[in-house]
Amino acid sequence: MKRAVCPGSFDPITYGHLDIITRASSHFEQVVVAVLENRTKSSLFSVAERIEMIRETTSNLPNVVVDSWSGLLVDYCKSNSIQAIVKGLRAVSDFDYELQMAQVNLQGSGVETMFMATAPAHSFLSSSLVKELAHYGGDVSTMVPASVNEALKLRVAGK
Ligand code: PNS
Repeated sequence: MKRAVCPGSFDPITYGHLDIITRASSHFEQVVVAVLENRTKSSLFSVAERIEMIRETTSNLPNVVVDSWSGLLVDYCKSNSIQAIVKGLRAVSDFDYELQMAQVNLQGSGVETMFMATAPAHSFLSSSLVKELAHYGGDVSTMVPASVNEALKLRVAGK
């Protein structure tokens, strides 16, 4: 089976992530959305909460499954027979870091990384930006699904 992983922090999932996951799901027999730790970021939602949000917002995609992993992405790929890592590239600013990770992952394990161009409508969108806006009461309804928007409102209100 041709399987790919869409890895990320997904704190929380945005329409930008969903665009990449949806498009990846039409190229692979199965896409695993894997919530991984990014040691450079602190999270607003627990891993369980993020998984629940991803499950709900990808429930229309029958060949997408959701999982989590605390360890190296390439070890996850090896243990789960995943041949490709799929990532979205928003802008040149993403490129340096993403290229480094792709090369390290290729060198360490032979797992390929495939980049998809983010749809122009989402080129500025990131979970960090969404959290910043939500924190100050900004409107993020065009950036995240309604259920994620509600979860954000509750979380920034301290619930
Ligand atoms: O959504 P993010 O935070 O940009 O995703 C980054 C993530 C989680 C995919 C990356 O930090 C990662 O792969 N973490 C797992 C640990 C790992 O394999 N690190 C080595 C990368 S060179």
